[in-house]
Amino acid sequence: MTKSPIIVALDFPSLSATKTFLEKFEGESLFVKVGMELFYQEGPKIIEFLKAQDHAIFLDLKLHDIPNTVYSAMKGLAQLGVDLINVHAFGGSEMMRRAVEGLEDGKLQGTVRPLCIAVTQLTSTSAKQLKEETFVDLPLEQMVEKQAALASQSGMDGVVCSPLESKRLKELLGHSFITVTPGIRPLGSEQGDQHRITTPAEAKRLKASYIVVGRPITKADNPFEAYTKIKQEWEETRQ
Ligand code: C5P
Repeated sequence: MTKSPIIVALDFPSLSATKTFLEKFEGESLFVKVGMELFYQEGPKIIEFLKAQDHAIFLDLKLHDIPNTVYSAMKGLAQLGVDLINVHAFGGSEMMRRAVEGLEDGKLQGTVRPLCIAVTQLTSTSAKQLKEETFVDLPLEQMVEKQAALASQSGMDGVVCSPLESKRLKELLGHSFITVTPGIRPLGSEQGDQHRITTPAEAKRLKASYIVVGRPITKADNPFEAYTKIKQEWEETRQ
């Protein structure tokens, strides 16, 4: 299956709400993101359901624990056969290395392991919070660069980052280092609580590997049309 560069965030509370939403995409193989909200409610059966419909899956659980626990958790999660999964870079190099080992050891026979990316700073973290609550004196951008470099050295396949950071991180860490970027707002759509946003076209010019889009699609009057427009905008833009 070729994976779409548009990852649709399934920020729904249940399998039934997810099913209702996906009915609008019948026949279309999507790349979807399942986060804590949906996975904690429905567990592995939500993944089985999505795989049976031929969707690629980003399991966005942002693991962060001691290396051994993350290893075991990843070994189990790899058996679900998802395509992409993530951890917090804050867990450190040993935790990131063990995460990849767990995925390798748990992968389904005859398949490649899920790609693993690191969250550097959450988009909700402000410069003030970084300084006053995590006691880090570096500017936010430098902190993100350092964490992304550590992620790369620790065997991560890429990072979740703002599209505004994507180009710089690719310059520093190489083009094959994956950048997955939320904070996408097509022209005319509501900004909501996202701060550092770009359009799909800008994100592509900034060399995002994949864009994560939630509300501009899930809350649209016609989600299929909204998705198709974003896909077209992406395809018409040169990277
Ligand atoms: O609705 P919206 O397009 O803002 O959704 C973006 C998705 O990406 C949400 O599922 C959100 O949790 C996720 N995300 C984010 N910023 C991050 C990491 C994940 O917005 N740094």
